[in-house]
Amino acid sequence: MSEPTPATGNTGNPESTSPRDDDASTIVAGLSLEQKVRLLSGRDHWHLEAVASVGLPAIMVTDGPHGLRKQAGSGDHLGLGESVPATCFPTAVGLAATFDEDLLTEIGAALGRECQAEDVGVLLGPGLNIKRHPAGGRNFEYFSEDPVVSGRLAAALVRGVQSQGVGACLKHFAANHQETFRMVIDTIVDQRTLRELELTGFELAVQGSRPWSVMTGYNQLNGTFCSDDHWLLTEVLRDSWGFDGLVMTDWGGMNDRVAATRAGCDLEMPGGGDAFDAELIAAVRRGELDEAAIDVVAARIVELIIRVRANARPDATADLDAHHDLARRAAADATVLLANDGILPLAADTLGSVAVIGSFAVSPRFQGAGSSQVRPTRLDAALPALRERLGATRIDYAPGYEVATGTTTSSLVTEAAAAAAGADVAVVFVGLPASYESEGFDRQHLELPAGHTRLIEAVLDANPRTVVVLTNGAPVELPWADRAAALLEGYLGGQAGGSAIVDVLVGDREPGGRLAESFPVRGSDLAADANFPGHPKQVEHREGLLVGYRFHDTAGVPARFPFGHGLGYTSFELTGATCRGEGTDRTVSVEVVNTGDRAGATVVQLYVRDVEASVPRPAKELKAFAKVRLDPGERTGVELDLDRRAFAFWDVGVGDWVVESGAFELLVGTSSTDIHHRIEVAVESDDAVTPAPATTGPIATDAEFTAMLGHPVPVPRAVQPFDRNTTVADLATTSAGRRLQTLILREGAKRTDAGTAEGDDATRRMFEAVIRQAPLRSLPLLGGGTPPLSAIDAAIDTLNGEPGLAVRRTAERLRAWADRSG
Ligand code: BGC
Repeated sequence: MSEPTPATGNTGNPESTSPRDDDASTIVAGLSLEQKVRLLSGRDHWHLEAVASVGLPAIMVTDGPHGLRKQAGSGDHLGLGESVPATCFPTAVGLAATFDEDLLTEIGAALGRECQAEDVGVLLGPGLNIKRHPAGGRNFEYFSEDPVVSGRLAAALVRGVQSQGVGACLKHFAANHQETFRMVIDTIVDQRTLRELELTGFELAVQGSRPWSVMTGYNQLNGTFCSDDHWLLTEVLRDSWGFDGLVMTDWGGMNDRVAATRAGCDLEMPGGGDAFDAELIAAVRRGELDEAAIDVVAARIVELIIRVRANARPDATADLDAHHDLARRAAADATVLLANDGILPLAADTLGSVAVIGSFAVSPRFQGAGSSQVRPTRLDAALPALRERLGATRIDYAPGYEVATGTTTSSLVTEAAAAAAGADVAVVFVGLPASYESEGFDRQHLELPAGHTRLIEAVLDANPRTVVVLTNGAPVELPWADRAAALLEGYLGGQAGGSAIVDVLVGDREPGGRLAESFPVRGSDLAADANFPGHPKQVEHREGLLVGYRFHDTAGVPARFPFGHGLGYTSFELTGATCRGEGTDRTVSVEVVNTGDRAGATVVQLYVRDVEASVPRPAKELKAFAKVRLDPGERTGVELDLDRRAFAFWDVGVGDWVVESGAFELLVGTSSTDIHHRIEVAVESDDAVTPAPATTGPIATDAEFTAMLGHPVPVPRAVQPFDRNTTVADLATTSAGRRLQTLILREGAKRTDAGTAEGDDATRRMFEAVIRQAPLRSLPLLGGGTPPLSAIDAAIDTLNGEPGLAVRRTAERLRAWADRSG
């Protein structure tokens, strides 16, 4: 139960999913250097190049993790331009809260069916980066602060997608958990934290689902761009974990095509500009890059094309009504009941009147902005769903705030308070407006909009029988939480989130979710907060392993709602926990009894605590979990398996996982702080343990961080001289640079305005941030080759005061181009 089951074949047609390696190699052997190089980047935003000589078509890859975002035509990256209607499932944060691998596989299969129906070969997801800080702009797209939860749930989703003969793509590999300067930021993280926190989820997902592809992160990892990192992509991913699929860059994330080819990064996306083709060919001609390295990556691209084609189901259709029902079930299972004084479920039969307050009840926020934004097939809102469900019951509605901005006015607040005062129960829908959290930028704080807080307080004053329903993709500060009669976290519930919340409110379904992330009292409590999002060039993980519950439970700083927490409408007892096995091979058994009078589900969590560690270790770490559904009075035995890895830590001196002899506690509970049983076991191990540096507090000092890294803390990269990784923001440091910056921003705004829907401030804000923080090299990569990389290089040389260099390089390029064409 604790470890992912290695997949034996991921598609409905296992034979056809294993293209023979020699097919691809033979095809590649028949291509010229130029033809091979052309394969190494896409044809356009969403297609790979075809291999016309052997009749291989241009396959399509597209977003995204919780729904299909297939744009018509060649598309234009982050969401400008409508995509085809597709089922929008709850985003990853909600899917993680289900802790339900079977459900994720079912959703994955539905996504796969929609891909097949739309002729999409690879779905770009899931994203499984660790939520280092709740303010991370894309946290809604990621699963958890814990690698075991992230890895196992990602694997489950991938198995579902790939069961339909469609590839999945794990992203963004690795240590990519902030949006601020995301395309250039250098993540400085010690090896132990990297292995135990950042990489473990990917490792579990790779080994538990054999994904067809992996996408590199935009960021640098300890000084090397992920797409250029041989250690990451070849030594760890392929050689150590056995990954046998294709590695692609994130969109516009290619840094150095020659280094990336050597590193084992196969495909550059998107395409359309041939930006690096000449550089690659020149590197081979100069003898700097072995053509065999190109053959290897080209063969992996051909292999993917063969695999996609072999599994295509041209007649496939998707049952969108059934998928909507699945999305509704998933959204209820993702809903976390954070607090309840007994008011929920609402007694539908005896309720006199309900005041529904908050614009989200009418205009739901159901997904996040950015590349994962789906055009839903339908959209359920809570207010009409509640009216339908409660029939004759009186329901008054007050909007309470302006939906896009979250601002309120005295009259809106007064109207809402009056509605609440006159009702048996008030249900207030609040949370984060779209412009507060999105791909492309991080949140500045964890507060709700002031308008929402003011509204909640007024409604709580007017009627203590108030249920607060939250809509947000990541934790928020909830200073008034103790005053609410009940608090429901609905997350970004997808297209059926509105009806699912009603199902939960009236008790037609259980609130099935448990938090896969901690809700801090204040963002500033967190150790990561001191270095989030870091400075523009570098972010230092001085908190090491102390992220999420590892921080709260080790540093003794309680969360408002801990990891794993969530209430239901029934009650469970966990009894008779026992452990069998020897050494590190253990099975913990526990009996789970539904002691209430309703059917319901709970998540049994098994944490391991190293009692006698000689190296610093978190107070406890989740190693296994099981979702259990029981009828009233029903009982069942749950078995959770542990293996060597569950007891091990990454020993930097040894360069491997080691187990230290001594006492360990196996903690069985229903949250990281609600531990029902402790079992002590003794483990004998022959592993040698290298002393590891400790810190005096949760945030490493310079000296401590130096010891953790094993080298001095790097000095952040200087802004000047400019180079391809100079950001548009950096240009403001010289007057000529400012002029270029103005031009780029103006052009960017023009394109953004042309494609962004009226009133879509989140997308507009995202684009502004993305363009301002983009490295110059990414402009041609994202712009289909416009401006060309050579123009960018010439501008850089000129800005650096070396116009002669610009002329020389341009002449060299012209000569190379003439050689090629002549
Ligand atoms: C995102 C990826 C996404 C890609 C294609 C990038 O900006 O980071 O997650 O798959 O765009 O839309």
